[in-house]
Amino acid sequence: MLAGGIAHDFNNILCAILGSSEMALLKTRPGSQLYRDLNRIVLAAERGRALVDRMLAFSRGGVAERISVHVEEVVREALELLSGKLPPGITIDARLNAGRATILGDATQVHQVVMNLATNGVQAMTAGGVLRVSLNTTRYDAPRVATIGSVTADDYVVLEVMDHGIGMAPEAVDRIFDPFFTTKNMGVGTGLGLSVVHGIVMEIGGAIHMSSTLGHGSSFTIYLPRHFGCDGAQRRASGSSLPIQTEL
Ligand SMILES: Nc1ncnc2c1ncn2[C@@H]1O[C@H](COP(=O)(O)OP(=O)(O)OP(=O)(O)O)[C@@H](O)[C@H]1O
Ligand SMILES: [Mg+2]
Repeated sequence: MLAGGIAHDFNNILCAILGSSEMALLKTRPGSQLYRDLNRIVLAAERGRALVDRMLAFSRGGVAERISVHVEEVVREALELLSGKLPPGITIDARLNAGRATILGDATQVHQVVMNLATNGVQAMTAGGVLRVSLNTTRYDAPRVATIGSVTADDYVVLEVMDHGIGMAPEAVDRIFDPFFTTKNMGVGTGLGLSVVHGIVMEIGGAIHMSSTLGHGSSFTIYLPRHFGCDGAQRRASGSSLPIQTEL
């Protein structure tokens, strides 16, 4: 609220600066020193206004866009990025079968979800192994149980990230979505990854289901409500199977 209040007042001040300097520019000879100085004022004020816009969006509860996102493209990009920095002995087995299915959300946020879940999976496999990432479209005829949020009888794009790593004890499972909860060493984890995932998935109107067995591994399933606006798809599960095997 404080950020929002300051941003609002500051926006009024910036409007006066911008308005006056733009008026002054109109009365100034282009190419003159005065013209250049005024131009600099306009540019700086415009940067200030962009900053204020971000603060206002934040105080409204997020800076996310809600546009049609082609999920498979985003997942593929994120995995390619991750593949470049995998520790030795870890491979990614990607089974992406969502075709051109889309959701309503923000591509950057979907990217963050994949990166956080996959990074956790990789970090959990201290002795190496295969991280399984799958993406599918599914239509549920009845509600499904989820750890967080609810899955109704509807169409979803479903992302699953599964590892065969160290797993989690039941008492840890209760806390993993809390901000700053981490079992990792200083400098390795801040404990924000899953709370970010939680916030993003809730904003998209999705759900999260997770299961983990100590010593055997964990799986996180993310349900994202499918959007049929721009992908031209029929209301049916679609997709071509494009498995990637990455080994570094
Ligand atoms: N796939 C997993 N296997 C085992 N433990 C996990 C897994 N994912 C999360 N955890 C546990 O949940 C904790 C919180 O995860 P989270 O991603 O929020 O933070 P982090 O990975 O510790 O730090 P950050 O993501 O900010 O770098 C982890 O420290 C770990 O104990
Ligand atoms: Mg993490």
